Order: sequence, then C-alpha cells, then structure tokens
Amino acid sequence: MNWTKEQYLSLVNELNHHCIRYYLLNDPVISDAEYDRLYRELILMEEVHPEWVVPDSPSQRIGFKVSSGRTIRHDKKMLSLDNVYSEDELKDFLNKVQRVYNGRIDWVVEPKIDGAAVSIIYEYGVLTAGVTRGDGLEGEDVTHNIRTIKSLPVKIDFKGRLVLRGEVFLSRQRFKELNEERGKAGEPLFANPRNAAAGTLKVLDPRIASDRGLGIFIYALDDGRQYGTHFEDLLWLNKLGFSVNPHIYLSKSEELMEYIKKIESLRKEMDYDLDGAVIKVNDYNVRDILGETIKYPRWAIAYKYEAEQVTTTLIDVVFQVGRTGIVTPVAILEPVEVSGSTVSRASLHNEDEIIRLDIKIGDRVFIEKSGEIIPKVVKTVPELRKGTEKSIIFPSSCPSCGAILKKEDAYWRCLNRHCPERVIGSIIHFASRDAMDIRGLGDKTVERFYKLGILKSITDIYLLKPGSIGHLDGFGELSEANLLESIHESKKREFYRFIYALGIDGVGIKMAQVLASHFKNIDNLVSADKEELKSIYGIGEEVANSIFGYFKDGNNLKMIDDFKRFGINMQYEQTTTSDILKGLNFLITGTLSKPRKYFEDLILKHGGNLLSGVSKNLNYLIVGENPGNKLEKARQLGIIIITEDEFKKKFGLGD
Ligand code: IVH
Repeated sequence: MNWTKEQYLSLVNELNHHCIRYYLLNDPVISDAEYDRLYRELILMEEVHPEWVVPDSPSQRIGFKVSSGRTIRHDKKMLSLDNVYSEDELKDFLNKVQRVYNGRIDWVVEPKIDGAAVSIIYEYGVLTAGVTRGDGLEGEDVTHNIRTIKSLPVKIDFKGRLVLRGEVFLSRQRFKELNEERGKAGEPLFANPRNAAAGTLKVLDPRIASDRGLGIFIYALDDGRQYGTHFEDLLWLNKLGFSVNPHIYLSKSEELMEYIKKIESLRKEMDYDLDGAVIKVNDYNVRDILGETIKYPRWAIAYKYEAEQVTTTLIDVVFQVGRTGIVTPVAILEPVEVSGSTVSRASLHNEDEIIRLDIKIGDRVFIEKSGEIIPKVVKTVPELRKGTEKSIIFPSSCPSCGAILKKEDAYWRCLNRHCPERVIGSIIHFASRDAMDIRGLGDKTVERFYKLGILKSITDIYLLKPGSIGHLDGFGELSEANLLESIHESKKREFYRFIYALGIDGVGIKMAQVLASHFKNIDNLVSADKEELKSIYGIGEEVANSIFGYFKDGNNLKMIDDFKRFGINMQYEQTTTSDILKGLNFLITGTLSKPRKYFEDLILKHGGNLLSGVSKNLNYLIVGENPGNKLEKARQLGIIIITEDEFKKKFGLGD
C-alpha cells in the first residue's frame, strides 16, 4: 500500500481534531459521512500497518472486554458535597466560611451534573486510568469504558501527571433512545439518566459503553495544578482539549444567588440532567485554610434545585404483565399537570420500590418528572392519612393467568408462556413496525383478536384465512384483504427483523442485525453454542444465555418450524441494500473475478458512488489484473488503492 507513516499520523491528528470540533465544541466542520470515510481509511491503514498504531488513534478507544471489576485506590480521598436547599441555608454556609477565613473570597459557581463521579489519570500525556468514586477511598477500574467517551482526549499535549475529577453522564436524548431500545428488547428500563450512566460505566464490554455514547464534564484538577486557582485551571484544561461545562462563573459572594438562578433557568433546555449548582472557593490556598470534614470539603457546597414535583392522590395500583412476564406495578393517579403534561399514571418499578416508598392506596403522593420518560412517585405524605387508606399487596400469582410468580433479581415474573397478557404482548411485538411491520395489526386489534380466539399465538397470524375477520364490527372485506396482504408481505422481511420479532430477552434491533449477519440463516443461529455467541460484538454472558436458552426450548423450535412452513424469510441476504458505502466514491480498473457490472451494482446497492475517472474526489480505486493508466494517476493523487479481496473484506461484502 502506498501510504507513509506521516500520512497515517496526520490522519490520526485530523480525526482527533474533528472529534474535538464535534464533541467538544459542538461545531463540526465536516459531515458525519465524511468523518466515517476518513475513519474507515484509518482502519484500513491500521490493518495494513498494525505497527504504526498509536494510542491516541480513534480506533484505540474501544479496547477489549475486561473480565471483572478491579478496584483502584484513589491518591486522595474523593469527597462528596454537603447540600443546602435555600438562600438562607446558603448564607449560613457563607457566614461559617467567613468566620474561618475573613479575607475576600472569590467563588466559582458551576452546574451540578447529575451523573456519576470519576477520577481520571493522565501520565506522559496518555490517559492511563479511569476510576469510579466507589466509597471515596477506592473505586472500580472503568478505564476501558472511560476511553470510549469521545469528548475525552486519549492523548494530550502535556507530559506531567494529571489527576482530574469529572462527572460522566448520559444525555437525555441518548437516555430516551436507550430505554426505547431496552423496552423493545424486553429488558428492564433504566430509572433515569444517572442510573444509566453509572450502569454503563460498569459494563465489562467497552463496545456497549461506546454505543451508549457517554459524555463527561471535567470539574476539578486534583494533581498537576498549573495555577493558584480552580477557575484558571479549568480554563487551562479546556484549552488542553477537555470538556469543561460552559456555564461556569467566577463570582463575588453578592452575585452568587444570581448565578445559581441563572443556571437553574437553563435547566430545562439542557440535554443533560443537572440537580443543582456547586459553589466552590476559587483560591486553592484559601481552600487549604478551610480544610475538610471526613465526608465534605468546607470550601464547597451543593445548592440543590427542587425537582418539579406536584401532589395528587393515588387512586389505585394495577399490575401489568409484559411480554417477557415481568410484572410492573403502575400507579393510577388523580390526573394532574406536571412539567407541561397531564399525568394519570406513574411507574412504581417493582415491589422493592413500593416497600421503600411505604405507599398506600388513597395516599396523597408527590410525583415528579425530571429526566425520566415516565413520571415517578417520589414520596407519600403519611401525615395526611385518614385511616381509610389501603395497603398495596403485590400479587403472588399472575394477574393475567394466575400462575405463581417467580422472583428474578428485583422483579416478579410470570413464567407461563401461555399467559394471555404475555401472548398478547408478544403478538403485538411480532407485528410491530420495527419487527415484521404488519400494518393493521396494532395493539387494540391484537387484543380483540386474542379475546375472540382468532389469534391465540404468534403463528396463528399466518393461519388467518379470507372470511375469518371480514364480518367483525369495524372490519370489512377491504380491511380484511389489506390485512391479509400485509401479513403475506411480512414473510419477505429481512432476516434480522424476524430475529428481533421473536422477542428473545436482551435482543433488540441492533443485536438482531448483528446476529443475522453473523449466522446468515436460522439453522446456524439455532445451533450456535454459548462460546460462539459470547464472541460476538456486544453480546455478554447474560444475553448469550438468553439466546442459547431460547433456542433450546422445544416450543420455540416448533414455532420456528411452523414459520419455515409458512415461507418466512430466515436467510441473511448479502445483497440487502445498506448505506455502508454512503459518501464514498469508487472506480474500478483492470479485470476482476466477476464482470465489472457485478461490482458496480454492489457498490450502488450499498449506497456508494461510481466515478467515471480518477480525480481527487475519488476515495477508493479497486484494482484487478492488468490495470489501466488510472492506477498511476490514482497513485499520483494519493488515492487509496485496494484489491477486490481487500474491498470485500473491508466492507464486509464477501460472498
Ligand atoms: S465538586 C470535593 N463539581 O456531585 C468536591 N461535583 O453530590 C467534589 N458533581 O460526587 C465535587 N457536578 O459526583 C463537583 N461541578 C461539580 C459537580 C459535582 C456534579 C457531583 C459529584 C459529587 C456529587 C456530590
């Protein structure tokens, strides 16, 4: 290959520069497709020249799975913050500080990000460790996941040792998407972005963390201080390439409340949760004079904002059974306005939550809606009880089918595969848009058909005959014909959609795509062993067990046989269109193993473009035997030249 190491290093720098523009400055100068193109070029270079790979290459952000959580001791104890909840309490705090140090004090006011605290270490300019707070003395080694945070540089232009503290968070948008994916995959939802961020930091496979897209704000420099003050050090860190929250103010004490309120007013529009403001002494010498208690520094305090809460009455609690059998208690509330929407239901998560809240039917309750999609009950007001309130009894048997529930972790589960609610849920899932996309078979219709005995299982969908539903109220011959047509159409859906439609625990759409392209057909997938499953992108122990268990179950195998008989597609199609080559320009020269038209079609099918001649816009020249003068021209322009095999391997377009 005709690259030089200098070209490689300059590409690493260029990509890191774009990462900074995108993740740090929010001001990208190239499109995502262009970035992907450069990234793919980098990977190609690294495949050919593994000896060139440098630690700050963007490819090195995702390392290997770690086998278990290792602990690391913090150099200095990671303290927490004491809280105040009002201006008066803040004044008390400020007075106390001034009694110990009666000179002039500059304060820094910062948003208090609601995520997970980490300590991050750089040595010789390289990110060497990321550790959770843990008990303050030692935390979990989460370096493998910290490295996946795109707004955090893996290499910096500073050779001394740095110990930084920061807050890792998940944006509200990513949180919402993640919970949607988890819901569809039948996995328990994260209660809020903070739990999701803390949970993500601890996953063993960094590819999972990378996909989830964590963010970070650095809020302290503990070792390697450059200036005498916190504010100047934060500015310095920002210049070095660290993400420091832009809403940080240097203030005299009179303006403190102003800044605290200013940050609060930004709260709604931020894409991350913040639960208060942190007020810190700016000067490190003054901090030393003030000192700290065992738990908190005396030079800082958190001013906690109130979550938007309203009170209402708990009218009832119903227990819903999802398709995976998890029984979720749902609070039925007297309708009330909160954060701009009317709320009449709230999740109570699980039995432990009911016990923790000590809640009764008829109670006056506080509900809040912050980062969560579903509002939650935060507390009850026992003082207002009249004595007529009723205890909530978590059922011991399934509210839908009566089967005895089994406890798995914090959740009670109905294990009866014929449980009506579970069956209805799985038919709804099977027919849903991302799965088999059967138009006309939405939630209400499925419920109705189930109750009428028209659909008793997923496979019944394909046994529907003309005349079986056309006579029903609200249905006519036309809607029957349309439904039968979309059922017929659904047999041709891509293989991954079918895998997703099966509703295997832990298998969302992305995972289904990975399984489809890895196993190519249902027989390979059915016979996969656990080791093979675990070796695949993004699959951990738990999901591997779930998939393996699913295909060991005789009922599931029988269902798959039925689907085969109905003629449902269970084959991965290599020719399936994708946008894998989107934004890339190709040209072919010389003779390849198949007619040129075959490759041209392949490129177009996958979203690539074909150019008519060599120009600087060309991204890849594919060379066969006896290439023409295009090869020489491409060399002169420094275009990437690849063989047919390299092309197929690179983009996963093999036969
Ligand atoms: S300073 C010794 N600054 O809040 C001072 N903490 O409730 C340590 N947090 O454990 C903390 N944003 O996880 C500081 N701008 C900020 C923060 C912040 C969020 C978190 C941090 C800390 C917790 C205390």
